[in-house]
Amino acid sequence: QTIHLADYQPYPFRVARVELTFRLSPRATRVLSRIAFAANPDRPGRHDLFLHGERLRLLSARIDGTPVPAAALVVTDEGLTVAAHALPEGPFLWEAEVEIDPEGNTALEGLYMSGGMYCTQCEAEGFRKITYYPDRPDVMAPFRVRIESDLPVMLSNGNPVGAGAGWAEWDDPWPKPAYLFALVAGNLVNLPDRFTTRSGRKVDLNIWVRPGDLDRCAFAMDSLIRSMKWDEDTYGREYDLDVFNIVAVDDFNMGAMENKGLNIFNSKLVLASPETATDLDFERIEGVIAHEYFHNWTGNRITCRDWFQLCLKEGLTVFRDQQFTSDMRSGPVKRIEDVLTLRARQFREDMGPLAHPPRPSSFVEINNFYTATVYEKGAEVIGMLKRLVGDDGYARALDLYFDRHDGDAATIEDWLKVFEDATGRDLSQFRRWYTDAGTPRLSVAEDWAPGDQGGTFTLTFTQSTPPTPGQEVKPPRVIPIAVGLLNPNGDEVVPTTVLEMTEATQSFRFDGLASRPVASILRGFSAPVVLERSVPAAEHAFLLAHDTDPFNRWEAGRALAKDTLVRMVAEDAPASPDYIAALGRLLADDALDPAFRALCLRLPAEDDLAQTLADTGRTPDPDRIHAAREDLARAVAQALERPLAATFEAMADGGPFSPDAAAAGRRSLRVAALALLNHLDGGARAADLFDGATNMTERAAALACLIEAGRAAEALAAFHDRWRNNRLVIDKWFTLQVVHAAPAHAAGVAGQLAAHADFDWRNPNRARALLGGLAANHAGFHDASGAAYRFYADWLLRLDPVNPQIAARLSTAFETWARYDADRRALVRAELERIRATPDLSRDLSEMTARILGA
Ligand code: ARG
Ligand code: ZN
Repeated sequence: QTIHLADYQPYPFRVARVELTFRLSPRATRVLSRIAFAANPDRPGRHDLFLHGERLRLLSARIDGTPVPAAALVVTDEGLTVAAHALPEGPFLWEAEVEIDPEGNTALEGLYMSGGMYCTQCEAEGFRKITYYPDRPDVMAPFRVRIESDLPVMLSNGNPVGAGAGWAEWDDPWPKPAYLFALVAGNLVNLPDRFTTRSGRKVDLNIWVRPGDLDRCAFAMDSLIRSMKWDEDTYGREYDLDVFNIVAVDDFNMGAMENKGLNIFNSKLVLASPETATDLDFERIEGVIAHEYFHNWTGNRITCRDWFQLCLKEGLTVFRDQQFTSDMRSGPVKRIEDVLTLRARQFREDMGPLAHPPRPSSFVEINNFYTATVYEKGAEVIGMLKRLVGDDGYARALDLYFDRHDGDAATIEDWLKVFEDATGRDLSQFRRWYTDAGTPRLSVAEDWAPGDQGGTFTLTFTQSTPPTPGQEVKPPRVIPIAVGLLNPNGDEVVPTTVLEMTEATQSFRFDGLASRPVASILRGFSAPVVLERSVPAAEHAFLLAHDTDPFNRWEAGRALAKDTLVRMVAEDAPASPDYIAALGRLLADDALDPAFRALCLRLPAEDDLAQTLADTGRTPDPDRIHAAREDLARAVAQALERPLAATFEAMADGGPFSPDAAAAGRRSLRVAALALLNHLDGGARAADLFDGATNMTERAAALACLIEAGRAAEALAAFHDRWRNNRLVIDKWFTLQVVHAAPAHAAGVAGQLAAHADFDWRNPNRARALLGGLAANHAGFHDASGAAYRFYADWLLRLDPVNPQIAARLSTAFETWARYDADRRALVRAELERIRATPDLSRDLSEMTARILGA
């Protein structure tokens, strides 16, 4: 059953207040609800009362104290309806008691158990598995919650208002939709701290974890405090309760959740120590702690009218967490990392059968739309808005947004109107970025006309967007194109200027230039488009050496790497000596941030090359791509052996561990050099580093190298032995073995690991570690035998009845199937059809497989 944006109607009732009592018990929790309803003036007339409810055992239902007569009540799998005639004319009180089974809740949506504790995940539509309620984001109410159990810690949203032996009460004064409800109870310990807001509110901060994990919470707490300060300084946003609690749970479908005053996190995004977490883990923890905290304003105080508006909160909150990370670390490095992710995940999505706009107009299962397009492209769209209206315009618009919409369930139209009102701009064309799917292609032609008063340089851009499922025709969009011009000496003659393209084809002139310039186009990746531009390698090399825009400097090196790889794959060409020489100059430039140099040393991923080949009309051959990438790595290592070895030594860590950007950047350059040298030394350096490493970044990188060198047996055993009691580290042990397996053996390795006693596949992190690892091994996943496809599909079918969200999410590994040759396509199709034909498939997985097949 498909839900359409166009069918939106306000809920016929308002909820004045919610009171819930939980009597916790693993297999039979009782939930008592008292909900005060009143008519909604936006929906005049008399209406039936519909309350969502799934997997609930209804024990009693009363209205104003009187049991609801059976004749007036209809209960289905999706909820219950009380006929309008059985409702009082004015406001009324609904009281119900239901029983639920947290222990049996393997889907991890609603109230469930993880490692002996109770916890919840309600976004998007999980509250309906807790009690009968209008489970939609535009119904907002203050909640009061009483929890009864003999567990030592009992938490819910808002402020604590009372506790005694076996009970605790919480009150959340801020009206909220049900998806922000949370409850946690268990034997937990806390890391406490304190934050005083700029207007003087003292906030108790706590990170709650299982006993034994307390020594790995400090970085998360530090990140939280920096986030709170940053949101005050940058957006003028203060926290609004007396407590802020974060709980880490081991079983969690996603990364984390912004429940009001009680954020619940996947433990991998909280727990970190130098020995157990990589620098990437630290950076993600910092970013996600910030993300969830920032939701307090962009998501909670201002929420979404309906789930089609998801990117209103997610795009904006991702944009804000990206800004935060840029400020905490390096702006250019963060931008490059974000563009790498955008291309790897969002462009991939946009170019395949799952393409959809940041604001979709229909869905079957909303959980299938927590996508790179909604999140990452949603953030890019805001970046473009900011570029178009300028920093001041953006600041004014955001102030107006918080002023005008605090307490609202808002829409993308509300958001754009705020920008129009604050800046006087017409954003009707800009709106297409929200409603149209697909990645625009931008091509550019250059013209140079010398003249007496100096020459004129003209850039003529053409945009077009290929069709996506259900959207054949794409009108032109407004595209901010940041451009700078350099003269042939490498000096900047025109600093970064944002050109505003609105037509299908449009020219921009630069007059009075002494000589023909070199254009640096799409600086900072000013719009999420594919720039189609064939430029001589010498010009890329020039920009790699001279561009003042760090993003485009990196991009120029990237273009060289991709050009040579594409020619190696398609024409059997040798590795380009010019590319390698340019890389060598960069490596030796000690003035450059090590993190930036590390990014330049990282070769394009195999999936990225497959995407580029497919996008330019060629059929990617995964084996050839793998071989070419290996050959290029070896050629780089051979040519640059000495500087790489010197860099590997120079970047060694002397002092005590610091997770900060500078220290992490040095480690990333060190392990990037190691990965290349590994092709020459057969794992010798990696073996030493594996033994001597004092942090997980180096140890995991060394282990990856040993696996690739085919000499990891002992190291793997030692690693497992040392970390057997740390689930997050054992996840890495699973992932590394599959990701770095030789392609022909990847499915076999995955099969052996799936039989390992530690393969607790009901735990989402563990399932993702193995299956996500296999999907990330491009040539292994697409091995011509089809063994990996089959193995993967078997596991999707096994996971689906237990945890449909995870099965559906993992199914996106197949979204690129149409790129490949007929044999591979037939193999994938057979697996997808086998899945489709399975009885009782979840709504989640059946929607995904239908869309992937283009059915
Ligand atoms: N709102 C959360 C975040 O972005 C994500 C929760 C999504 N959960 C889900 N089951 N779809 O921070
Ligand atoms: Zn979010």
